[in-house]
Amino acid sequence: MAIEILKPATLNVEAIRLDFPILARKVNDQPLVYLDNAATSQKPDSVIQSMDFYYRNYNANVHRGIHRLSEEATLGYERSRARIANFIGARSNKEVIFTRNTTEGLNLLAYTWGESNIRQGEEILLTEMEHHSNLVPWQRLAKRKGARVRYIPVDDQGCLRMDLLDELLGPQTRLVSVTHMSNVLGTINPVAEIATRAHAVGAVVIVDAAQSVPHFPVNVRELGADFLAFSSHKMCGPTGIGALWGRRDLLEAMEPFMGGGDMIREVTYEGATWNDLPWKFEAGTPGIAEGIGFGAAVDYLSGIGMEKVHAYEQYLVSYAIEMLRSVPGVVIYGPEAALRGGVVAFNVDAIHPHDLASMLDREGIAIRAGHHCAMPLAGRLNVAATARASFYFYNTTEEIDRLVAGLYTAKKVFKF
Ligand SMILES: Cc1ncc(COP(=O)(O)O)c(C=O)c1O
Repeated sequence: MAIEILKPATLNVEAIRLDFPILARKVNDQPLVYLDNAATSQKPDSVIQSMDFYYRNYNANVHRGIHRLSEEATLGYERSRARIANFIGARSNKEVIFTRNTTEGLNLLAYTWGESNIRQGEEILLTEMEHHSNLVPWQRLAKRKGARVRYIPVDDQGCLRMDLLDELLGPQTRLVSVTHMSNVLGTINPVAEIATRAHAVGAVVIVDAAQSVPHFPVNVRELGADFLAFSSHKMCGPTGIGALWGRRDLLEAMEPFMGGGDMIREVTYEGATWNDLPWKFEAGTPGIAEGIGFGAAVDYLSGIGMEKVHAYEQYLVSYAIEMLRSVPGVVIYGPEAALRGGVVAFNVDAIHPHDLASMLDREGIAIRAGHHCAMPLAGRLNVAATARASFYFYNTTEEIDRLVAGLYTAKKVFKF
């Protein structure tokens, strides 16, 4: 069947693929088709080399030594922070705190801002499509504080019920924390509008940007939120490092998260005072090579251009949805392509998604199967699990064709 979706003449994907050494490998004697980018992305040579170069040439601890290597390491690490701040439109590097990942950023907020600001009887508003990272920390905080967690419902298309937002918001709402893009439905949420309406009732707004910052332009000043968390490993960078952006006045007023080296100004036997932002929130030796690699990833993405990444991924996801729709027995979850990023969750007949993923793996195709760390959403969709293909700018329509061919093979094997 001929699918007519115009390819944006924006990216030279063939050339881009050469930057990613792993894309040349085979799995089960087939060229790898990597469609699990929402879980983690692959890494370009420039990122791998930046970390290798650090270990070979200027490995030392940061913010401590007066010697040359430590100065170079500090410079490399702090330069990365500046690149990341610039990438998301932060007003200052001081607003960007290095964390381990999105999960740690959100937990940091629950334990610092949340502990000091959420009181008994107040409400925390989330959405029905949150990843566990943006659910569990708030449920635990609410339990500690005697607060209540409420949810913006998801409609049958997989979009937020924005018509119910004003009913859910009120003077009791202290915090609204929402995902920018669902890792299951692919839905891109109207975060700027949510922030405006939440601020009107005096609530603080947090954005889980794990799936947005890697895939489309995000400018924290335009978004109007108060905090935003994301992970390096989903945006071409290494694992073990992420960033939490926060409004400076809020960060200044917050208590530190963990205590230890680097986060202090002065320590006596009686107590301690805190370092300036952002180091007040960065106790202990950080992931230095990881920070440097994160900066290289941001450089790489900036070199491509996030507008182009987004346009190309929308093309891929439109193509994928059309192709998957043409397969009998496929059920797709989430809204039309125009409202989502490069993620498609689906089921095929009654084939268990785990069986489907194993079958596809035999053909060298990597997808994810399960609840995708969003168990309540799976319940809302009335499924135990789904298969999920998630794209990045180095994927191709030919790879989507191989996915679809793999689905036909699976249907044959499972007799559907
Ligand atoms: C929407 C969303 N939020 C949070 C996370 C957690 O990210 P990390 O595991 O890097 O902390 C993920 C990861 O899949 C995600 O997709």
